[in-house]
Amino acid sequence: MNHDLHMDPDEFRRRGYEMVDWVADYLVNIEQFPVTSPVAPGQIRKALPDTAPEQPEPFEAVMRDLDEIIMPGITHWQSPHWYAYFPANSSGPSLLGEIAAAGLGVQGMLWSTSPAATELETVVVDWMADLLGLPRAWKTTAQGGGVIQMSASDATLVALVTAREQAAGPVDRLVVYASDQTHSSLEKGARIAGFQHVRAIDVDAEFAIDIAALQDAIAADKAAGLVPAFVCATVGTTATTAIDPVRAIAETARREGMWCHVDAAYAGSAMICPEFRHHQDGLELVDSYTFNPHKWMLTNFDCNIYYVADRQPLLNAMSILPPYLRNEATLSGEVIDYRDWHVPLGRRFRSLKLWFVLRHYGAEGIRAFIREHVRLAQDLAAKITADGRFELVAPHPFGLIVIRHVDGDAATTRLAKRLNDSGKVAVTPTTLGDMAALRISIGSTRTTAGHVNQLWSLIDEMA
Ligand SMILES: Cc1ncc(COP(=O)(O)O)c(C=O)c1O
Repeated sequence: MNHDLHMDPDEFRRRGYEMVDWVADYLVNIEQFPVTSPVAPGQIRKALPDTAPEQPEPFEAVMRDLDEIIMPGITHWQSPHWYAYFPANSSGPSLLGEIAAAGLGVQGMLWSTSPAATELETVVVDWMADLLGLPRAWKTTAQGGGVIQMSASDATLVALVTAREQAAGPVDRLVVYASDQTHSSLEKGARIAGFQHVRAIDVDAEFAIDIAALQDAIAADKAAGLVPAFVCATVGTTATTAIDPVRAIAETARREGMWCHVDAAYAGSAMICPEFRHHQDGLELVDSYTFNPHKWMLTNFDCNIYYVADRQPLLNAMSILPPYLRNEATLSGEVIDYRDWHVPLGRRFRSLKLWFVLRHYGAEGIRAFIREHVRLAQDLAAKITADGRFELVAPHPFGLIVIRHVDGDAATTRLAKRLNDSGKVAVTPTTLGDMAALRISIGSTRTTAGHVNQLWSLIDEMA
């Protein structure tokens, strides 16, 4: 190979500074773009060549195409006018941590493949357990532990596999329970893990699981010869941020010998503020828990944390040690090999960006950030309630409010479409049962009271 083809250190340095400028300029100018990309399906693909380049191309050409071809197809998740789905917020320190991780380019699959990648991860997940007020037993210093992986979907899959391995019956008789508001990753994970019975349990008026309906379903399944094996409680459901009663679910799980998993993908970040922790009372009774710093904690995607109360069942379910991975440190039993804690072998150095974020903002900085979003959401909810043209369809304990036009489904759907078509904001239309609703999720890094006022003016104008 011609080594002149590599980007030499001086060019890398120059291009690197330009790239940082590019990202900084993008974030400064982000409000100039339509929040949601207006391109038609296939438009970006058509603008790109059918085949990869045979010959090297100048870096300038790549950057030009980034600006001219790729940027029109970007939906601006980092816009302060982003109110769709849940946030996927990021921050300067997180991006810089990501650059450092990419620069080091380590594969942290085993302790021995980069000791710092493992040990920093252990420290950061243990810090987070304390910061979120999670049970002390979940720390690596006790019998539990946490691991950083890509997504909450991965975490839930791992929980399901672990539960399957220690369940008292063959997989075709095991049953998984969750409310009908549970994220689809539960059903997907159950399917991948081979479960054949997944029960979507009814919810109450506030979209939290109906515990009596859960118990009835369990009794019916047992009477039919099936084996209850897994129950998922969600703290902050995707549609409305409803909160399942963790303690009651976990007590039921203990009685029935089921694994109890808590999905706090979005709301988990709020637990850094003690005033929200009562929403997940009962955690000391659950087996596993997951949340996404990549949603609401200033850490760019991907960064999920999965905790277990006891790491042994997880390791029993996931550990395989082929000869080529054997090494002295692993065999000594003195180190953690995180490859045993999730599905893939290879693993990115994700703890670095989270460590940068925690050190840059400090816990107090992150608390202030979360509290401000919740305050903005509560203020907007108050305005919407006072207006008379809208109703709130669910409680709004965090940064999400879900509204509906009093004129009904068509008016609600029309409002969502007008808001999104304006290019000025992004919201998510949804349905709850068969009722149309509109989700407004406040949590973007740069969203201020001024932005939320602009959103309210648009709603007022377009309703
Ligand atoms: C409650 C809940 N669980 C799980 C997920 C899936 O998260 P991920 O994309 O990290 O798999 C989401 C995504 O919004 C969610 O809201």
